[in-house]
Amino acid sequence: MFELQPHLRAAMSGDPDFRAVLWEVGGLEKSRVDPALWLAPEELVEMEALRGEKRRREWLAARVALKGLLLADGVVAAPATAIVRKDAAGAPRLVVYEPDTGRYEVRGCSISHSGAYVLCAYTPGRHGRVGVDIERRTWRMLYLRRKYANKADRLLDPPDSIGAGTLVWSLKESLSKLVGTGMGCGFPKLVCNETEPGRCEMFDPAGAPHRGRYEWLERYALTAVADPPDAAAAPAPPPRRGLLERLARKRRLKRLRRERAMREREAAKETAGAPEGAPAGDWCNREESNLHASRH
Ligand SMILES: CC(C)(COP(=O)(O)OP(=O)(O)OC[C@H]1O[C@@H](n2cnc3c(N)ncnc32)[C@H](O)[C@@H]1OP(=O)(O)O)[C@@H](O)C(=O)NCCC(=O)NCCS
Repeated sequence: MFELQPHLRAAMSGDPDFRAVLWEVGGLEKSRVDPALWLAPEELVEMEALRGEKRRREWLAARVALKGLLLADGVVAAPATAIVRKDAAGAPRLVVYEPDTGRYEVRGCSISHSGAYVLCAYTPGRHGRVGVDIERRTWRMLYLRRKYANKADRLLDPPDSIGAGTLVWSLKESLSKLVGTGMGCGFPKLVCNETEPGRCEMFDPAGAPHRGRYEWLERYALTAVADPPDAAAAPAPPPRRGLLERLARKRRLKRLRRERAMREREAAKETAGAPEGAPAGDWCNREESNLHASRH
């Protein structure tokens, strides 16, 4: 029922931190995809709100390709149990039903469409992030250089300048998707340095390192950027509190401890004064036993 024809094609395979897949939008008709079987109710609502047949088809093809990969990897048994949900900035996250725990877990994912193709990726690890992009070679990259290039950008064996520009742009777009800002982060602030063929170290606007990969499919650059393995292993530690906040917190804790100690001292005093057997703080029983004592 969920066979995709023509088959999904793995992209940038063999990476421990993400799985990526390429598919053709035309596969929707060839595979006779029924959106009601592939999408969760909230996704069906999102699709209905999209304007234009082309936009709707590429949007649907991306979800079907991603879920096809999840099915092939055995992550889900039914495509509608995985949901692509977006945050306020439009960055997608994958919400997957885990039958073992009966809970929904969040994983990183990323989507790109260009021409006849969609490229999608997800992170097998729960804390990972990934960004992908598919970019067709275009001469406009020569004129847009100031909008994306950084002096520190390096490619080992650059193709012609259009190809080099397309690659650098695409790698930076992937990084901007990983970060979750999109182009708003300012591509010239991002740095791309190819360290071995097809593999780059990438630096985000804060200077944090990430791993980039690319390959060519005809005239298209396929790129992906993932967190370094150690960052993907655990969630980032919460930001350190400011000095004033730390002092206020220390004072608040001290006050709470003092109040608790006072309460405990008072309770201990009352217990010492109470008749044997009456639990501390149980005024009702104490009153009653006092009454018994006065009667006898
Ligand atoms: C994210 C962005 C780089 C995508 O670039 P694009 O070339 O138009 O489109 P692509 O096909 O490569 O990617 C589209 C996918 O990016 C993803 N995306 C959108 N906003 C995103 C964000 N803030 N972070 C990560 N991914 C995002 C979506 O999943 C989208 O696919 P979907 O609509 O099927 O869900 C670009 O749209 C952007 O910068 N958006 C945020 C700011 C903005 O809207 N600016 C207006 C133009 S300056």
